[in-house]
Amino acid sequence: MRKGLILALAVICMVGISSVAFGQVSGSVHDLTTLAGVTEICAVCHSPHDSGTNRAANGPLWNHDLSTLTFNMYSSDTAGAEATPSAPGGTSRLCLGCHDGVTALEAFGGGTGSTVVTGNKKIPNLNGTNGNLQGTHPISIAYVASKTGLKSAPSTDLIGNAPIDSVLVNGNVECSTCHDVHDDPVEALGAYLLRADNANSALCLSCHIK
Ligand code: HEC
Ligand code: HEC
Ligand code: HEC
Ligand code: HEC
Repeated sequence: MRKGLILALAVICMVGISSVAFGQVSGSVHDLTTLAGVTEICAVCHSPHDSGTNRAANGPLWNHDLSTLTFNMYSSDTAGAEATPSAPGGTSRLCLGCHDGVTALEAFGGGTGSTVVTGNKKIPNLNGTNGNLQGTHPISIAYVASKTGLKSAPSTDLIGNAPIDSVLVNGNVECSTCHDVHDDPVEALGAYLLRADNANSALCLSCHIK
């Protein structure tokens, strides 16, 4: 556990240094230093030391509040039981801690505030305290590679330049499967922090055989 933490810290430091060199988070839509009123670009989302509220238990040294909304998940008569989870899981919970349009951006490291993500920058269709994800591509669902209509070899098929396997979270499709929160220029990024340019629906066709 401790070894893992030290390794994670080392990785964070390295990513931090390279982001200065290549301007990844810096200058992207997730450079929240101005909006959240801080100078530490990573601190809005991560902290090397938990501030005592145990947010880090939620993910990679996580430092931001999670959403307290109850979400209505996408449901389908055709997609199969695996496509109807009861609540967001994995890294999607982290995104929804800001993209719910309710939780304050300043709610990190024990802080409070009232700046929220609005308009289309939150999950479109979420309205106030209405946690409606039924108009959003299913998330927290298993990618069943053997299913008709899905690419059968996710480790060789790619989303942008990344193997599909590598952007699933414990085998599930999450927000971070389609979006790169750090806007990493190593991948073929499209607009909206997408991992692939969605011209001609290329992102969709990375997984769906249509
Ligand atoms: C707006 C929020 C946000 C900001 C700002 C942010 N991160 Fe992250 N980070 C995330 C989320 C969400 C994940 C988990 C999802 C994922 O890995 O894509 C993550 C995962 C990570 C990971 C583990 C997985 C990986 O991608 O290697 C590292 C390391 C990391 N971040 C480092 C950093 C560093 C260093 C900074 C500052 C330069 C930073 N992050 C800024 C949200 C953020
Ligand atoms: C700490 C808060 C925070 C977290 C956590 C966070 N975001 Fe954001 N995100 C924002 C804000 C604020 C904006 C809008 C910035 C602006 O208005 O310029 C934004 C913008 C975006 C955009 C819009 C890009 C565009 O070009 O219109 C996308 C897509 C996005 N985030 C996806 C994600 C995903 C996916 C995750 C999780 C992996 C995530 N965000 C986690 C705060 C956050
Ligand atoms: C299957 C891929 C996929 C998944 C999963 C996904 N998105 Fe998106 N997202 C997109 C695409 C593609 C767009 C570009 C706009 C569009 O086509 O509607 C987008 C757009 C956005 C935008 C910008 C909307 C705008 O009009 O400015 C935000 C914010 C966003 N996504 C956040 C999220 C969050 C948070 C999650 C998880 C709850 C998520 N997305 C899950 C593919 C995805
Ligand atoms: C990472 C792989 C992946 C990407 C990228 C992806 N999807 Fe999906 N999609 C899935 C999985 C897995 C399911 C749920 C299982 C199923 O429907 O077979 C799903 C379900 C759906 C459904 C619901 C089907 C139903 O029966 O209710 C639609 C519609 C859909 N995707 C469209 C899209 C569109 C449009 C895009 C591009 C914006 C996209 N997908 C991108 C993996 C992906």
